[in-house]
Amino acid sequence: MAQEVRGVIAPGKDEPVRIETIVVPDPGPGEAVVSIRACGVCHTDLHYKQGGISEDFPFLLGHEASGIVESVGEGVTDVAPGDFVILNWRAVCGQCRACLRGRPWYCFDTHNAKQRMTLASTGQELSPALGIGAFADKTLVAAGQCTKVDPAVAPEVAGLLGCGVMAGIGAAINTGNVGRGDTVAVIGCGGVGDAAIAGARLAGAAKIIAVDIDPRKLETAKKLGATHLVNSRESDPVEAVREMTGGFGADVVIEAVGRPETYTQAFYARDLAGTVVLVGVPTPEMKLELPLLDVFGRGGALKSSWYGDCLPSRDFPMLIDLHLQGRLDLGAFVTETIALDGVEEAFERMHHGDVLRSVVTF
Ligand code: APR
Ligand code: ZN
Ligand code: ZN
Repeated sequence: MAQEVRGVIAPGKDEPVRIETIVVPDPGPGEAVVSIRACGVCHTDLHYKQGGISEDFPFLLGHEASGIVESVGEGVTDVAPGDFVILNWRAVCGQCRACLRGRPWYCFDTHNAKQRMTLASTGQELSPALGIGAFADKTLVAAGQCTKVDPAVAPEVAGLLGCGVMAGIGAAINTGNVGRGDTVAVIGCGGVGDAAIAGARLAGAAKIIAVDIDPRKLETAKKLGATHLVNSRESDPVEAVREMTGGFGADVVIEAVGRPETYTQAFYARDLAGTVVLVGVPTPEMKLELPLLDVFGRGGALKSSWYGDCLPSRDFPMLIDLHLQGRLDLGAFVTETIALDGVEEAFERMHHGDVLRSVVTF
C-alpha cells in the first residue's frame, strides 16, 4: 500500500522550500522503504534548491540520513525490516570496470531506485536529492543504498556518515592514506575539512595543521584534533606549513574548499614526495595554472577524492564502531537538532558558517 507522509520539497529555482504531502509507493524488486530517523542539512541540498545541480524540479531534499528499514521488495536479502541503516548515494553494480577494479565510487551503472515518489496534491514525480530524498518521514531507495550499522549509535550522528563527514574522513584515511607519524595539513575547516582532521587523528598523524580564514573555524578544528592552527588571512599558509614541518611541507595536504587559490596552496604546501588530496569541489569555470617545471619537479601524488573513496559496507560500520568505543568523536559534528520545518532557516545558518551540521530528527 502506498503511503502518504511529509517531505521537504524544493518547488522551483531559488524558491523557499516547503513541507508537502508526498506519496511513497511499496518497494519494488531490489528496493526498500526506510523510515527516516535523522537527516543532516548539507550544502548540496542548498545547491539543489538553487538549481545548481539539475533543473529537474520539484526536488525532495535531504541525503545525509539514517533510518529503520520498514519494508523490502522482492529479492532483497542484505537488509530486512527493523534494520538500522545509513543511506548512501549509490547502489553500485559490482560488475562494471570501476567496480571490478575495486573503485566502486566511480561505478558507471548505479542501480538506484527508479524514482516513483510523487506529490500527493498534483501527482507530479519527485526528484530525490542524490537519489535519496530523506527530509521525509519515509523514503524509497534501492536496498543497495542501505548499510546496516550498530543501532546503539544516535541516529543524528549516524546519518552524517552518509555524506560530508564520510567525504572528509575518507579523504584522509582512504584517498590520502595517512599513516602513523605523518604530518597533515587541511586547508578549509568546514564540516568536510574537520572530518578530514578527525580522520587524520584516527590514522595516527603526528602533526595536523588546520588552515582557514575564519578564526571560529580554527577553534572547532582544534577540538577535533588539529595540533597547529594557521589563519591564512594573517599569514601565508604555504610558508606556515613549511615552517611547521621542518621546512619540508606536509606528507599529506587535504584541500577542502574548492577554489583555485587553495588548490594552489595545497600543491605547494606538500613535501616533495607528499600527497595532495582534493576534496573541495570547484565550479566549472575555475582553472588551475601552475608552472610546468613545478609540476615536473615535484614527486608525490595529486589525487581527487570522490565521496571519500569510501566503501559504505566496509567504512560505515567500522566508523560507527570506533565512535561507540570513544575513539572517534562523530558527535562533535552535530551542532543542533531541528524539526522538519526548520530546514530553510538551517540553510541560512549554514550559509553564514554558524554551524557544522544541523540535523533534522524525526
Ligand atoms: N582559505 C582557507 N579556508 C577557506 C578559504 C580560503 N581561501 N575560503 C573559505 N575557506 C573555509 C571557510 O571559512 C570554511 O570554514 O573553507 C571552509 C569551507 O567549509 P564549508 O563551507 O562548511 O564547506 P564544507 O561542507 O566543509 O565543504 C567543503 O568540500 O565536499 C566539498 O562541496 C564541498 O567544496 C565543498 C568542500
Ligand atoms: Zn559498477
Ligand atoms: Zn551532502
